[in-house]
Amino acid sequence: MKIRFDETNLLAPMVGEAHGISASEYRSQLRRGPDVVRAFRKLVDRGEVGFPTLPYQKGVLKQIQTFARKVRGSFDSICLLGIGGSALGAWALDCALRGPHPLQKPFSKAHPRLVILDNVDPALVGAALETMDPKSTLVLAITKQGTTAETLASLLVVRDWMGRRASRQTVAVTTPGRGDLYALAVREKWPVFAIPENVGGRFSVLSAVGLLPAALMGLDVARLLRGAARMTEICWETDAGDNPALRAALLHHLVWVEKKKTIHVAFPYSNRLWGTAFWFRQLWAESLGKEKTRKGEIVQIGQTPVAALGVTDQHSQVQLYIEGPNDKVFTFWAVEKQPWEGRIPKARLGLDAFDYLAGRKLAELLEAERLSTAATLAEAGRPNCTFTLERLDEEHLGAFLQMLEFETAFMAELLDVNAFDQPGVEAGKRFTYGLMGRPGFEDYRERFEHYLRRRQKAV
Ligand code: PA5
Repeated sequence: MKIRFDETNLLAPMVGEAHGISASEYRSQLRRGPDVVRAFRKLVDRGEVGFPTLPYQKGVLKQIQTFARKVRGSFDSICLLGIGGSALGAWALDCALRGPHPLQKPFSKAHPRLVILDNVDPALVGAALETMDPKSTLVLAITKQGTTAETLASLLVVRDWMGRRASRQTVAVTTPGRGDLYALAVREKWPVFAIPENVGGRFSVLSAVGLLPAALMGLDVARLLRGAARMTEICWETDAGDNPALRAALLHHLVWVEKKKTIHVAFPYSNRLWGTAFWFRQLWAESLGKEKTRKGEIVQIGQTPVAALGVTDQHSQVQLYIEGPNDKVFTFWAVEKQPWEGRIPKARLGLDAFDYLAGRKLAELLEAERLSTAATLAEAGRPNCTFTLERLDEEHLGAFLQMLEFETAFMAELLDVNAFDQPGVEAGKRFTYGLMGRPGFEDYRERFEHYLRRRQKAV
């Protein structure tokens, strides 16, 4: 498994002193590495943060594999009900390992389709129900808290659509003993897969939250965990030279805080990594966008993550990136070896704009475009860096996801914020409960009415 981090285009000689890291800044920042790793390790050793231990959970792996084997061949659709961290990991896995949405190979009972309902837009839910058959659909209801309105509302709709089959064809992934999804699962005798207490939604892709859908899709979840385990060992290295997650966090921290790059563009040159870019967007935004430090000091800090797709967004966003405000840092994600390189026929047409491409490969063009975007950004003084995955398979993806989670956790140490809570998201959930009349949340209804009165007065 090989994942490389190239930071050269973050350095001052490439993008200038104002936007890039000087040699002395680089040296002194890298010296902070060991303290950052040790501080985070304490949280893990105390059991407060669980994602680094997920690759080693042999019992869970076995339980998931056994279940997937048992139901293999019975369903052509897996309908995943979940939102945020309970959905994006499965999307990232499906998109990376079975081909970009919606262009995947034909589905069958041997290769069921993954239908993710991560929104309550009736247009999405209605369209999904029209394209699935209740006889051959397995429903996965995934929510850590077990109370999230969107997931439970979709479950009620889908359960009704399934009719009597719902009791035999529904699985819950949730926190045992907590929340009403768990209560319903017990009542209906649905299989339950546990989400560990110390693993938050956006850090849960390597728990049953991501592994169960992956196994049901026929992916090799053991290899996924193997890659993640190897990366975990690397991420515990205290020397930033040997630890890409640590080096990336340290250098991104400098570029963000000292060079004022408040927007972070995750820029995969790979349609298969597009789902991962959306997964990362949530990870970075919810973990690092915080009002207060861990000591309670008000900082209102955050770096806005943006997902851009190479080459496509060269013809959409790159004009802004090169000539607009210099407030962004770019992280390219490249895949070195493609399973199919897209050979362009050798025949020449006698037309210049075609003939220089004859006999080349689409993969070569994709790579040339990435290199030229990196070079153009650097020439314009825009800091950028690159993660390169040797290939995109279970092992590399497991490692890459785990590495990005470590990078996020290290960044939180540098900023002294809690990466593992999300008070802003929870406040939104409580407002929704209040507005929809859930008992116990009447004060949120009142707060909302107060807000409406303020709006009336404002005009
Ligand atoms: O990362 C998080 O904690 C959140 O984004 C959650 O994943 C999201 O709000 C869904 O929560 P739950 O899984 O409890 O339904």
